[in-house]
Amino acid sequence: MFIVVGVTGGIAAYKTVSLIRLLVTAGHEVHVIPTEDALRFVGLTTWEAISRHPVTTSVHEDVAEVRHVALGRRAELVIVAPATADFLAKMTAGLAGDLLGTTLLATSARVVVAPAMHTEMWRHPATQANIATLRERGVHVVGPDDGALTGGDSGPGRMSEPDAIAAAALAVVPARAHLAGARVVVSAGGTREPIDPVRYLGNRSSGRQGAALALAAADRGAEVTLVAAHVDDGVLDAVARHPRIRIQRVSTVAQMQSAMTDAAAEAGLVVMAAAVSDYRVADVADHKLSKEDAAGPGLTLELVRTPDIVAGLAAQRCDGQIVIAFAAETEEDRDALLGRAQRKAARKGVDVLVANRVGWNAGFGTPDNAIVVVSRDGAVLAEASGSKREVADAIWDAVLSLR
Ligand code: C5P
Repeated sequence: MFIVVGVTGGIAAYKTVSLIRLLVTAGHEVHVIPTEDALRFVGLTTWEAISRHPVTTSVHEDVAEVRHVALGRRAELVIVAPATADFLAKMTAGLAGDLLGTTLLATSARVVVAPAMHTEMWRHPATQANIATLRERGVHVVGPDDGALTGGDSGPGRMSEPDAIAAAALAVVPARAHLAGARVVVSAGGTREPIDPVRYLGNRSSGRQGAALALAAADRGAEVTLVAAHVDDGVLDAVARHPRIRIQRVSTVAQMQSAMTDAAAEAGLVVMAAAVSDYRVADVADHKLSKEDAAGPGLTLELVRTPDIVAGLAAQRCDGQIVIAFAAETEEDRDALLGRAQRKAARKGVDVLVANRVGWNAGFGTPDNAIVVVSRDGAVLAEASGSKREVADAIWDAVLSLR
């Protein structure tokens, strides 16, 4: 699971090192976001070493990869331990002055806080009102325990022990159908068919939905091959860092077909999320086409159909293999979109078809998506909208419900 651990400025921060070790040892990918104050108690080097990932407190680093929302979006669980009285007040107010604050506003994941403070501060009506508000918003509160506090005091306010926080936090995340041991192949991005040495026929696919599907599968334990055609800058960054994802780059339909056919031979789940050109140029010029060589004012290119890769994969699939296709449609009406999806699933012979609406400003290249998932017999397995990662998880839940 992709877990973000926020650490705020309390002496109990030293116990959070053990909490992170527990989570990492259990196989979770943990990213730590300390506040500036937390670093007075435990330094950056410790957080980086224990989580095995780079750590920053600032929203001004890694701006290009929009880190202040990226971690929140990817997180499946956010734990704040220790959560000081000051931080709980900031969280209740929705303050976003640092990376932890922005992450908490950007995430739709379950959030668990483990308060730690002196008894008087815990019992203060301001803190109790903040805790009540956070609970109403769905935040889970673990502890605090009754016990020894800093400076020889004792009473309620001691942060719960790391194993208790880990157990309580993991229990709030709904059990996901897992893919441990499964082999998955996903295609992503848009193919390019050459016209001449410098020009091509292409499309506006960013590769984001395919990359999100690969990440979501790998986070559930699968070994993933991502066959990536042309994708937008940065789309493969998180994928490239994932230890269970192998990326294979391709460009043309023929290269995509060959890579997918090879990878599918070993895979239990095959997803064609790439936008594949339906046509290629019949005769690719070996020199740059020039206006000067043209006979008239226009240019006619002869196009020929490319093979339907996913239909081929479905036709030759082995026992138990599940083949999933996508359909990007400009159809506005939901029922009409659904009808097209059902017909396409049957025509291509795939087990699952994911339909999404695209247009000049929807679907392709945008961070969000809205989809309907249908099975080969036309049954609607799921409908989902949200970030491409949320949609990816909804797709895997739907697909795995078939197994
Ligand atoms: O027929 P249409 O292009 O709408 O189908 C889209 C689905 O088929 C996608 O899953 C896409 O990856 C796949 N496809 C393919 N080979 C093609 C064209 C589309 O595998 N030549």
